[in-house]
Amino acid sequence: MDAGHGWNAGAFQHHDRELGKHGRVVVQARLLFFVRPQRYTYEFMEKSEAFTLSFFAERYKPQLNFCGSRSGRETDKVDECGFTVRAAENGSVFFDEARLVLECRKLYFQDLDPANFVDDSLMKNYPQQDFHRMYIGEITRALIEA
Ligand SMILES: Cc1cc2nc3c(=O)[nH]c(=O)nc-3n(C[C@H](O)[C@H](O)[C@H](O)COP(=O)(O)O)c2cc1C
Repeated sequence: MDAGHGWNAGAFQHHDRELGKHGRVVVQARLLFFVRPQRYTYEFMEKSEAFTLSFFAERYKPQLNFCGSRSGRETDKVDECGFTVRAAENGSVFFDEARLVLECRKLYFQDLDPANFVDDSLMKNYPQQDFHRMYIGEITRALIEA
């Protein structure tokens, strides 16, 4: 995942003036991620404006490898992995076992355009022309394991 931050010192000062508060840091963070159109995940991304990203500790690697190699269309991955589903504030869901959860709001999407590949060798990743859809999400809430 590639992540970007949409903030700077000027933005902090602006918020301080606006809110009449000092010493409070307002962070507005956005992120990019990429999903191929044939993924079951893609269907959910298209149906909803809210989504979550769950990040797990190293000990969950076997479960993540399982989730990364099987489609949710053919198996109940949550059940197989023993994960606990919880309701997020943004209307989506997340996994209780994650060490970090980012609740996000969809801002923008765009399909990768092969005409814009600066390095032509990237085309070898797309023999079926199934170019990833890029989403930009605004992080509306972060849950961090204490
Ligand atoms: C380490 C790893 C990273 C992956 N990253 C992505 C990704 O960024 N985008 C994507 O579309 N698929 C990615 N995949 C492949 C999907 O996780 C895989 O196709 C999965 O079966 C899709 O499940 P779904 O059909 O339930 O969405 C990744 C797989 C692994 C193992």
